[in-house]
Amino acid sequence: MVVTAAMTVAPAALLAAVFVVMFCEAKEKHNQHSEFTIEDLVCSVSDLFGAGTETTSTTVRYGLLLLLKYPEVTAKVQEEIGHVVGRHRSPCMQDRSCMPYTDAVVHEIQRYINLLPTNLPHAVTCEVKFRNYLIPKGTTVFTSLTSVLHDEKEFPNPKVFDPGHFLDESGNFKKSDYFMPFSAGIIEITLGPLG
Ligand code: HEM
Repeated sequence: MVVTAAMTVAPAALLAAVFVVMFCEAKEKHNQHSEFTIEDLVCSVSDLFGAGTETTSTTVRYGLLLLLKYPEVTAKVQEEIGHVVGRHRSPCMQDRSCMPYTDAVVHEIQRYINLLPTNLPHAVTCEVKFRNYLIPKGTTVFTSLTSVLHDEKEFPNPKVFDPGHFLDESGNFKKSDYFMPFSAGIIEITLGPLG
């Protein structure tokens, strides 16, 4: 199977089209209080394409490469899918809790590939004291997501692709507070597929 950016562009394009229609309808009705200004439209569409497309398609591409590299992992995922979903229906969200191994593999792909190692830049809105440092208001700060995703204590052998990082001794899915590919802190973005 070939995964192209187009496969993730399609839903974004659909949403962009919905925004355009809403914008036009709002304008047609001369609704002065409408949220749909041309600026909102441009921001929403560029957010969807810029933030939502490349991240998802690159993650899927890396995921497929890892599944090719580790056929024993792929076989276990296939077995779990066959057992829980089978061949006669589409998967649904309720299946997720019954698929700890597949859930762990998806998490491990995101942890291992460390897609956005330094997150996006942020600025402190007030003077901040952090350990022995005083960070003046307005300073641009980068949070190192690598330092968390590849933390050696939380994930032994962090450079090794191992779904066991997210499984307990009984094979149940093990949540980790160190799983933060979508950012850190209270502004954590939850638009991603696992968010
Ligand atoms: C594997 C998939 C994804 C990953 C790893 C990911 C990761 C991230 C990260 C690390 C940030 C920066 C957060 C911050 O500023 O602290 C971010 C921001 C954002 N993401 Fe995602 N994301 C993914 C998918 C998506 C999708 C599917 C959408 C929308 C459909 C989306 C929309 C956004 C938006 C709107 C922002 C904020 C951009 C801004 O502040 O200008 N992301 N994402």
